[in-house]
This record gives sequence, structure tokens and C-alpha cells, in this order.
Amino acid sequence: MTIPTPHISATSADQIAKTVLMPGDPLRAKFIADNFLTDVSQFNETRGMLGFTGYYNGKRVSVMGSGMGIPSSMIYFNELFDFYDVDTIIRIGTAGSMQKDVKLHDIVIATSACSESSINDNLFGNVHFSPTPDFDLLIEAYQKSLDLGYRTHCGQVQSSDQFYNDMPDQVFENLQKYGVLCVEMETYGLYMAARRHGKKGLGIFTISDSLVENTADSAEDRQKSYTNMMKLALEIAHE
Ligand code: HPA
Repeated sequence: MTIPTPHISATSADQIAKTVLMPGDPLRAKFIADNFLTDVSQFNETRGMLGFTGYYNGKRVSVMGSGMGIPSSMIYFNELFDFYDVDTIIRIGTAGSMQKDVKLHDIVIATSACSESSINDNLFGNVHFSPTPDFDLLIEAYQKSLDLGYRTHCGQVQSSDQFYNDMPDQVFENLQKYGVLCVEMETYGLYMAARRHGKKGLGIFTISDSLVENTADSAEDRQKSYTNMMKLALEIAHE
């Protein structure tokens, strides 16, 4: 395949920076471009999946929506790594807490992801592969998050294929017992795509709701804690 791809309309790789921050929501990508970046140019609007490149404190960086779920987001992860020479994708998303001490607004950094997704079913025989992030980027994100004063947790996340589901209580309890911190819907795909292409991926989340305490963020708090996460991701982006 050549560029532009069926899903990204940028006509050359140099329209996209080496690091791309990816929220699920394309309007959140626009929010980052509008509020944090200078000298912004838009490189995509195919399917409304807005993508922008600009400068954060003089550092060239791109932001683009990924859509929700592994199938949507993996199309963009694979095309950015494979056809646009992107080195690093940092997913910035929201997640539902599965642990008592992981509170609303806390930051979670995914040291690995588990999933009921079938994308690996025929890849590794009977081996259950565990997708992991780039270690240097993980350490950098953790340090920076602490420096910024954020309550930060590192651990495994669940990348679920379903937002609405009938998960048996026992399965939920086992995931909790084995230390899964929170549930979101894309990071397993990001870590697989990054490993597939020998590139770097990292998933960072703001806790927007708690499956333990049945609470959810107010719109105002959500915006503030997302902004904290955006700053963190922009700080660790490399040119
Ligand atoms: N489930 C899946 N994805 C999510 C959730 C959730 O509860 N909260 C934020 N992203």
C-alpha cells in the first residue's frame, strides 16, 4: 500500500511527527491542537478522524483520534507505524477503575494489557502472548507523572471488546484479584501494533469512572483531569 492510505489523507510522511498522541475522540485531538500546540496544520479529516501536527514548547508532535475499540484504533496504529514512519504512539484515554485505591482522576500507565480480543488467536500457537509497552517510555512517563504531582499507578489494564457486557461476576473478581487496575478498549491493540512494527507504544489513562464504587466523573472534573494527562503525554513526546 502507498500513501495516502484508505484512512489517512496525509500525502507525505513528513506531514506527521515522529510521536503521535492519540485520544479516542477526534474532537479531543482538536482540543489538544487548539490549546497546547502552535503552528498547527491539519493532516487528516477522513471519516472525521481529525489529525494535526504542531509544536509543543518547540517540539514537533502530532495528535489524532483513534476511534473506539481495538479494530478501529488498530487501523490507525498500523497505518501510522507502517506508512507514515511514526516511531511512537502514546494513547491517552479514559478508563474505568477496577481497584479500590485507583480513584477518579488518578493516572494509570499500562505496563501490559490483557483482552478477550481474538487478534492474537492464530499468531502464537497455544502461547498466550502478553503485549507490553516500550520500557524507556514507560519509566519516563512514570517519573514525569510523579514530578507533575499526579496520583499515578502502573500496572496491567484490560482492553475490553465490549463497553456494555454481561461479564460474569467471577471473571470480574478474578481480574481484580490478579491486580488488573482498570478497563479501557484499545491498548492491547496498540501494544500489538507497536511490537509488530518494532516501534514504541504506551497507554496512559485518566480514571473517568469506577466499576468498584459505581461513580463517574463530572464533566468539569473530567476536562481538568484529561488536561493533566495531555500535559504528561506532551512532556514525554520525543521529536
Ligand atoms: N469500560 C470500558 N472502557 C472504558 C470505561 C469502562 O468502564 N471507562 C472508560 N473507558
